[in-house]
Amino acid sequence: MKSSHLDNIPSTPGKFKIEKSPYSHRFRWHYSYLAKLTFWSFVFLALIFIFFFKSPPSSSPYSSISTTPSDLSRRSLKTSSWGGPAWEKRVRSSAKVRSKTGFSVLVTGAAGFVGTHVSASLKRRGDGVLGLDNFNDYYDPYLKRARQALLERSGIYIVEGDINDVALLKKLFEVIPFTHVMHLAAQAGVRYAMENPNSYIHSNVAGFVNLLEVCKSANPQPAIVWASSSSVYGLNTKVPFSEKDRTDQPASLYAATKKAGEEIAHTYNHIYGLSLTGLRFFTVYGPWGRPDMAYFFFTRDILKGKAIPIFESANHGTVARDFTYIDDIVKGCLGALDTAEKSTGSGGKKKRPAQLRVFNLGNTSPVPVSDLVSILEKLLKVKAKRRVMKLPRNGDVPFTHANISFAQREFGYKPTTDLQMGLKKFVRWYGGFDLYQKELKKDLDSWECT
Ligand SMILES: NC(=O)c1ccc[n+]([C@@H]2O[C@H](COP(=O)([O-])OP(=O)(O)OC[C@H]3O[C@@H](n4cnc5c(N)ncnc54)[C@H](O)[C@@H]3O)[C@@H](O)[C@H]2O)c1
Repeated sequence: MKSSHLDNIPSTPGKFKIEKSPYSHRFRWHYSYLAKLTFWSFVFLALIFIFFFKSPPSSSPYSSISTTPSDLSRRSLKTSSWGGPAWEKRVRSSAKVRSKTGFSVLVTGAAGFVGTHVSASLKRRGDGVLGLDNFNDYYDPYLKRARQALLERSGIYIVEGDINDVALLKKLFEVIPFTHVMHLAAQAGVRYAMENPNSYIHSNVAGFVNLLEVCKSANPQPAIVWASSSSVYGLNTKVPFSEKDRTDQPASLYAATKKAGEEIAHTYNHIYGLSLTGLRFFTVYGPWGRPDMAYFFFTRDILKGKAIPIFESANHGTVARDFTYIDDIVKGCLGALDTAEKSTGSGGKKKRPAQLRVFNLGNTSPVPVSDLVSILEKLLKVKAKRRVMKLPRNGDVPFTHANISFAQREFGYKPTTDLQMGLKKFVRWYGGFDLYQKELKKDLDSWECT
């Protein structure tokens, strides 16, 4: 009887045996060839996968450069989000000029102490204002956010971004043909330079150059007013400090970067016809001020019963500062903007010589730091725990005193608030702000940007 193929099916599993046939050798060779091919294809694909996903992009000019902190900071710039129709609409509305003779001003460092006050004043008189700030955490960014909220209420938008972000700056100038730039963004503070020197180079040197590069190519070129510092006088002993005095002995890296800024400004004025005005501020204080400055943390520490350091210079000499109230500084900034001439270049080329100025903006009456503490004691009705110590060699200078006759002559600069009155306003603000921080009850509406 002929057996059918169904007969080969085993009755129990595992007993099936392939019968040897003349074709069985060929079948085994074919099978092992296919297995090898599959294995090597898999290895090949795995290698391609590793190559593309693990290695740096070989076309990048930076691919051979190791990941330094500055690479990282450059990368972090990309995290700020900007662009798109809604964003542009916001930018336009903030920068819209509302008075006949008004300017459209880009204010860098707008969430900072001086930037907030200047932005608010410009907006109040009808200028269009757009802010730019990277909200860094040099001091509590909460304070910067509170200032931002304050400006938002008067229709000022602060774009979150870094002055080193060239693409962002170009975009801003593409959307708004700014007539002026009020450049206040910087790494401030003298002592912090010993902790984080690169932050000074990043913001005060590289950032300034980036900004000027974009300004020089903008059409029309804006006029630029920017913050230098009284610290450029460094170890100068001739008082009061005049703009003609030597500034080649900086006592801190901060001062050196501001001095570098003045030289960089000269270059961009000389080559590209940018109108540039540098303002040497002298110890600015007031409401919404900076928590890293003595008048601010003295107030906080006196109220907390903590000891405060009072420095004295060599041979028990007095350390004194030409404290300048914020409203006077704002008047100086506006005076400088109003008298700034137009830049003269176009398409990145200078057409004729352009304006280049440097002004002291101070109060012209230096006060010993110990007197500042006495005023605070009276205002706070608390006795300070004074700890007198030698002025450390970390960048601070013993004395500052501004000669302001040049600013007086050019735009009628005349400070009107003395330290007693200015500190009274600061302490009143501090009380409200401190309470807000503690209880989170008070509404921002109840404060005024003076
Ligand atoms: N306050 C003073 O007593 C004083 C004295 C002399 C000079 N100045 C100068 O005046 C200007 C304003 O000072 P301030 O007291 O308002 O300081 P601030 O620190 O309160 O303000 C500076 C602002 O710039 C921002 N910023 C810093 N680097 C940036 C960057 N790379 N990109 C974008 N934003 C950046 C910060 O986030 C900050 O909000 C600074 O240039 C400072 O050096 C101030």
